[in-house]
Amino acid sequence: MSEVLRAITERSSTRGYKKDKIAPEILEQLIQAGLEAPTAANKQEIHFSVIDGEAAVLQEIEDEKNRGFGLEQAPPNNFYYDAPTVIIISGDKNFSWSELDAGIAVENIAIAAQALGLGSLIIGCVKNALRGEKEAEFAEKLGYPEGYEYKIAIALGYKAVTKEPHTYEYEKQVTIVK
Ligand SMILES: Cc1cc2nc3c(=O)[nH]c(=O)nc-3n(C[C@H](O)[C@H](O)[C@H](O)COP(=O)(O)O)c2cc1C
Repeated sequence: MSEVLRAITERSSTRGYKKDKIAPEILEQLIQAGLEAPTAANKQEIHFSVIDGEAAVLQEIEDEKNRGFGLEQAPPNNFYYDAPTVIIISGDKNFSWSELDAGIAVENIAIAAQALGLGSLIIGCVKNALRGEKEAEFAEKLGYPEGYEYKIAIALGYKAVTKEPHTYEYEKQVTIVK
């Protein structure tokens, strides 16, 4: 099996990380993987906010998420499972392909992380928090370009837990058309 296919097959969501920081040259490769993703019309409009796991803004996002959920008690884990790095991908509110472009980029990063021996978790649960009342405040703190909004996020780090990749129903999900 090719290395790429192996990384795709073996990737799964990581919901527990070691405290170790990601080495700068490894993190750079992950950012490059995002930048190398294709974008509609080669617009390259998506933006990557690369956030240290200890940055205060992550707790602020977590608090806003929990406030929005109306949870009486916060869940035991935060949304990024204490990963040492989180990347938030934002895109142009007025470009209809931005969400898809961000999705392609986040998967590129997830596959690259797997290939480099790291775990990752794609994160959608902060959407309401990042697009709600505090959207402008978070946009500034996260350095989005003007007119951008959160599209998707990914937690990255060394795996402290492992999980089998998900299963799927080939017959239900695939139609071969001849
Ligand atoms: C768009 C998207 C958003 C997701 N958001 C979350 C999330 O907020 N929290 C979480 O724990 N997992 C999240 N996941 C991970 C999925 O739950 C996970 O990919 C799925 O259960 C399949 O498991 P696997 O990634 O281990 O194969 C998200 C995945 C995708 C593709």
